[in-house]
Amino acid sequence: MTRHMDSPWWRDAVVYEIYVRSFADASGDGVGDLPGVRERLPYLRSLGVDAVWLTPFYPSPMADGGYDVADHRGVDPLFGTLADFEALVHDAHELGLKVLVDVVPNHSSSEHPWFRDALRGVGRDRYLFRDRPNNWQSTFSGPAWTQLPDGQWYLHLFASEQPDFNWRNPEVHAEFLDILRFWLDRGVDGFRIDVAMGLYKAEGLPDVEDQAFASVSPIWGRPEVHAVYRDWRKLLDSYPGERMAVGEVWTDDPADLALYVRPDELHQSFNFSWLQAPWSPAAFRKVIDDTLKTVPFATWVLSNHDVVRHRTRYGTDDPGTGLARARAGLLMMLALPGSVYLYQGEELGLPEVTDLPPESRQDPVFKRSKGELPGRDGCRVPLPWTPDGASYGFSADGVAPWLPQPDEFRTLNAQNQAEDPGSTLEFYRRALACRRELARSVPYALEWLESPQGALFFSRGSLTCAVNCGSDPVRLPPHESVLLSSGPVEDGVLPPDTAAWLRTS
Ligand code: GLC
Repeated sequence: MTRHMDSPWWRDAVVYEIYVRSFADASGDGVGDLPGVRERLPYLRSLGVDAVWLTPFYPSPMADGGYDVADHRGVDPLFGTLADFEALVHDAHELGLKVLVDVVPNHSSSEHPWFRDALRGVGRDRYLFRDRPNNWQSTFSGPAWTQLPDGQWYLHLFASEQPDFNWRNPEVHAEFLDILRFWLDRGVDGFRIDVAMGLYKAEGLPDVEDQAFASVSPIWGRPEVHAVYRDWRKLLDSYPGERMAVGEVWTDDPADLALYVRPDELHQSFNFSWLQAPWSPAAFRKVIDDTLKTVPFATWVLSNHDVVRHRTRYGTDDPGTGLARARAGLLMMLALPGSVYLYQGEELGLPEVTDLPPESRQDPVFKRSKGELPGRDGCRVPLPWTPDGASYGFSADGVAPWLPQPDEFRTLNAQNQAEDPGSTLEFYRRALACRRELARSVPYALEWLESPQGALFFSRGSLTCAVNCGSDPVRLPPHESVLLSSGPVEDGVLPPDTAAWLRTS
């Protein structure tokens, strides 16, 4: 919102996450790919985003949807070729869109040449091999250790097909600097860093009591990791054009988040406290206050490829409530200072698909927990582009997509919504266009206004945002005009689960 002449592009950018295998399939094999993304870039331009983040498209056995990388400098034939990638970057830049790619430094695929060497006993020091395992559990459930026939065990904080690197080996550090250079040389504008608070583990790999993602523990958030990001920052700064990096850092404590975005480290970190907040004005206000107080460059995110889509999270048992809240939540988020990350399909108001048949589920979380945990496939269902066809326009006609799509895609698809001014897609377009317009006039600082019970009112210069999270209608604060609202607003009254942007003098 505050594109001051001297502020870098990413500071207030709207970045759209593309989960490549579920976005658009140009090759007709039922899996999304880079040419599919390239064809749909004009859709993203007209949606009004500033940048795209592409999830991993590197050669991979796909044990974790591509987050098991076998070659960090290539493109898996499933997703296209390096030439397809270069064409995509070229077209995106022509359209004024920046491109971020995912870098996965915590682990590789078990098919990576280094790990294959390690299996033969060569270069095991690039990974974490031990004679005995400790008590660590995999984030995907089950033990974090797998034993080889020769008796040694290796550590994997995720699936057993994702062995963790040993970042205390300088070869690993040098390799990743080179990988970053490889993509920077191909014109990428920045990186999303997978598991950014992982990488280093406490010396001696001590047993732990609590396995959860935590700010600092023997498993996560080791202080040594910051030296890595200082080196990455130097590299990014040595390239022209404001290249940037955003870290995936899971923590409840904004002070920890701030450690990653010190001036000589990463440019941004995802603010997962925002997506973890319940639909409550007090919870939202606390996250906003804590973030703006502690983190120099704020970011906001409601959904991504790892969490239940926010329409469903907010929906309790009623999908109508979920959609109303999702739309109101978007307006609130877009009115905040800093940058915003959107997840593909939220602009269509897509819900989580909760009834996928077990045999179609592919997430290692589902497999490793033996079906006890549903896993993340429900937010990864291929996007619906048209009202008909075997895959609603995701693949060539007659081709089944890699995950089945629900019947409601017949109405929720992009084509139908583009023709309906009341659709969620058109609402997103209006909101993003309005935000872009306001960017020239609105200051970074946010001021709280007195708000009735259940509501949150705040202003930034001449923009006031009013959100009603309660169950009774509230009166809007004084204003000149209503710029935009997430639902019907009449006679100065804001209904429940609705937000509005107001112009004030
Ligand atoms: C990150 C990714 C997630 C992946 C995991 C392991 O959390 O977002 O999708 O499974 O890292 O790479």
